[in-house]
Amino acid sequence: MQQTTGLESNWEHAKAVAAIHEAGREIAASLDLDRTFRLVMQKAAETLPMDAGVLFIRDEAAQLYRVAVSHNMPPEQVEAITFAFNEGVPGWVVQHRRHLIIDDARVDARVHPAAVAAGVLSTLAVPLESRQRVVGVLNLFCQTGTHAFNAEALQLAQVFADQAAVFLENARLVGELRQWAASLEQRVAERTRQIEEKQAQIIRAEKMAAVGRLAASVAHEINNPLQAIALHLQLLADESLSADGQRHLKVVQQEFNRIAGIVERLLDFQRPQKGQRQPVDVLAALDYVIMLAEKQLQRSAVALVKHLPPALPAVLVVENQLKQVFLNLILNAAEAMPTGGTLTIAACHEGDEIHIEFADTGPGLPPEVKAHLFEPFYTTKADGSGLGLAVSHEIIANHGGTMTVHNAPGEGATFRVALPVRATTGGGK
Ligand SMILES: Nc1ncnc2c1ncn2[C@@H]1O[C@H](COP(=O)(O)OP(=O)(O)OP(=O)(O)O)[C@@H](O)[C@H]1O
Ligand SMILES: [Mg+2]
Repeated sequence: MQQTTGLESNWEHAKAVAAIHEAGREIAASLDLDRTFRLVMQKAAETLPMDAGVLFIRDEAAQLYRVAVSHNMPPEQVEAITFAFNEGVPGWVVQHRRHLIIDDARVDARVHPAAVAAGVLSTLAVPLESRQRVVGVLNLFCQTGTHAFNAEALQLAQVFADQAAVFLENARLVGELRQWAASLEQRVAERTRQIEEKQAQIIRAEKMAAVGRLAASVAHEINNPLQAIALHLQLLADESLSADGQRHLKVVQQEFNRIAGIVERLLDFQRPQKGQRQPVDVLAALDYVIMLAEKQLQRSAVALVKHLPPALPAVLVVENQLKQVFLNLILNAAEAMPTGGTLTIAACHEGDEIHIEFADTGPGLPPEVKAHLFEPFYTTKADGSGLGLAVSHEIIANHGGTMTVHNAPGEGATFRVALPVRATTGGGK
C-alpha cells in the first residue's frame, strides 16, 4: 500500500513552484496570522500528497504545543491534539531541530492517538525556524497510505515551513513595533498632560500675582487715611467722653484694628521683595511660632506632634516672613479642628531643599475650596480675610520655594513648604 509523492511530472513541479511563490507573496503583504497559516496549509495541500495537517506553535504561557491552524480535520479532534514541550512529534522535531518522517504512524508512539484514531497512516513534520530557534512545527498527515512522504515532499514542506516562519517573525516584529508605538504615544500623552498642567499653574500664579499687586496698591492708598484716623482715634480716646461715647469709640477702635490688620497683610504682597534676607534656622523659627500659637492650639484641644530632625541647614530668607507663613498654616490647622485633633509638624532635608509639613486631622479640603485656596480674599470663614494662604504662598514663591497641599477630604489637610537650601550663604544663625 505504498504511494508515490505525485510530484514526478514537470507539470506538477511547476505547480508546486507557483504555489510557493504565491504563498510567499501573500505572506509578505499580510499581517493576519491566522489567514497566513491557513494559506500555507492550503498551498501545501495543493502540492503535497497529504489529506490533512496541523501547524503547531509554541504556547510559552501554557508550556505546550498547540495547533494554530489545521487542514481537513474536525475541530474537536484538533482541540484534543496538544503536546507538552519535548513530547510527541513536535517535541521531537523541536528537540532535534530537524524534520521527521514516520512511514507507519500506527506503530510510532510520537504520533498523537487522536491522529491515529482519525486514520492517519503516515506523517511528515518539519520545523519552523526563526532566529536560530524552532518556533513551530508543520505536521502533515496522509490517511490513504503508509510511506506517503519522500525526500522531495520533505523539501517542499520545508519551503512552506520556512515561509510560515518568516511570517511569524514578521508578526513578532510588528507586534513589538506596535507595542513600542503605543508606549511612545502614552509617553507623549503624559508629557503633554504635564506641560498643560504647568501652563495652568503659570496662568494661575500670574492671575494671583496680578490680584496681589492690585490689592497691595489699594492697601497702600488706604494706609495713609488710616494713619490719620488712627491718630484722631487716639485723640478721641483722651477726651472725656460719656459712657455711651466710650462704648462707641471702643467698637470703632476694634473695627479699625481689623481694617488695619487686613491692610497690613495686603501690603505683604509687595514686601517679600524688600525684606532683608539672612541665613535662618528653620527649626528655631518653627519653635518660636509654635510658642506663639500654643494658646490657640490648647484652646481648640489640638495635640501637637513634632517630627523634627536635630538640625537643618540654614535657608536664606526674610525671617519674619517665614514665621508669618508658619503661623498662618498653624492657625488654619487649629481653625480647621475647632473640637480638637492632631497637628503634626514634620521637617526634613531632601536633596537641595528643606521640606516643612503641617498635617492636620480636620475635615480636609473639598475640591471647590482646594481650587481657590491660594487666591487672595478666598475664605470660608465668617471672620476670615482669605489672605493667610495667598500671602504665605506669595512669600514662599518669592523665596524660590513652593507651597503645596496634599489633601484627603475627611482625613485632614497637609500643607508642605519646600525651600531651597542652595541659596544659603552657608552656616546657621
Ligand atoms: N488646614 C485646613 N483645613 C481645611 N481648610 C483649610 C485649611 N487651611 C485653609 N483652609 C481653607 O482655605 C481657606 C483660605 O485660607 P486662608 O488662610 O487663606 O484664609 P482664612 O483662614 O479664611 O482667613 P485668614 O487667614 O485671613 O484668617 C479657609 O477659609 C479654609 O476654607
Ligand atoms: Mg488663615
